[in-house]
Amino acid sequence: MLKTAESLNRLGTETAFEVLARAADLEKQGRDIINLGIGQPDFKTPEHIVEAAIKALRDGHHGYTPAQGILPLREAVSADLAKRHDVEVDPGLITIMPGGKPTMFFAVLMFGTPGTEIMYPDPGFPIYRSMIEYSGAKPVPIPLLEDKGFAFSADDVLSQITPATRLIIINSPGNPTGGAVPREEIDRLVAGLARHPDVALMSDEIYSQMLYDGREHVSLLTYPEIRDQLILLDGWSKTYAMTGWRLGFSVWPKALVEPVVRLAVNCHSCVNAPTQFAGIAALEGPQDQVRTMVAAFDERRRAIVPMLNQLPGFRCVEPGGAFYAFPNVSGTGMSAKELQNRMLEEAGIATVAGTSFGIHGEGYIRFSYANSKENIARAIERIGTLLTG
Ligand SMILES: Cc1ncc(COP(=O)(O)O)c(C=O)c1O
Repeated sequence: MLKTAESLNRLGTETAFEVLARAADLEKQGRDIINLGIGQPDFKTPEHIVEAAIKALRDGHHGYTPAQGILPLREAVSADLAKRHDVEVDPGLITIMPGGKPTMFFAVLMFGTPGTEIMYPDPGFPIYRSMIEYSGAKPVPIPLLEDKGFAFSADDVLSQITPATRLIIINSPGNPTGGAVPREEIDRLVAGLARHPDVALMSDEIYSQMLYDGREHVSLLTYPEIRDQLILLDGWSKTYAMTGWRLGFSVWPKALVEPVVRLAVNCHSCVNAPTQFAGIAALEGPQDQVRTMVAAFDERRRAIVPMLNQLPGFRCVEPGGAFYAFPNVSGTGMSAKELQNRMLEEAGIATVAGTSFGIHGEGYIRFSYANSKENIARAIERIGTLLTG
């Protein structure tokens, strides 16, 4: 019997991948499955980005790069942040990562040890809690509630800070809720955090370019008073439909750049070279396909929310960003997991139960609308039939 580390038992997972596997199984058996469970755009990476990676391979970029990422890419990220958020970020503070996840992995490893506390959004991306548990730190949920549009309350967050708090994780626009935190709450959080200079903040802004109804993205980078506390997570996965490329970036306080690069050297050495060149093409090339994709998500969002609201036992608030709707399904009389399973097994619709995203996700289901309007309409019809017997 092998004796693995006890900490391994505390490491969680992302249920969306399990749903995906079960949906693929059912498809193999000949079932017609509509996938509204998946957290990735149903678009292809724009052609000029693909070409840049092919060219990089042909040009001989086959070796290791600096662990922090090639300088032209970090300069392109810096220029992109200046354009999007009107902020100045030294490329020396930017680290190129194999996706968005490694930033949360490293940030939690840097701060989490037994005896410390880390706050995270609940419902939220499941890897936050999984990593906090793995590190041995105490996970402290920040409840995101339907009646507040799934935005956190700054007072809620600040009142939970204790001498053991090391890191606070926030995510807006959010997965799984699509909630977008209004500027006033962020202003108040920042004002409070400035009184706790020994507490770090990781702001996961991976959906920053997916906001609707004229909402503006409020990047935590725009608050100079917390720059020495802030870890910004962003990347290409969602914005440029590049989930499989594994490319992300983060901005770190100056004091954490050396340790994060050391973690990268220990873990992955560097992001593969051609992908980094693709990243430059994405940021510096035309942005029209990003706009087209976001417009398509918006159209589907406006279609799916009223449809969900017509299902018996469902109630869905308008999501402000990302590509998820998070209806309250407690009126169906089923638990989130039971409904998720029945929708998949009996109606062929893949979704993810809210409980996969935290204790406050009970009674909710995450629908990803990264699928065609036709498929969304077919899916809702089948769920309607399931619910009305
Ligand atoms: C909130 C959030 N952060 C980070 C990630 C991870 O992104 P990546 O695929 O780039 O690792 C996801 C992916 O679903 C996400 O929803």
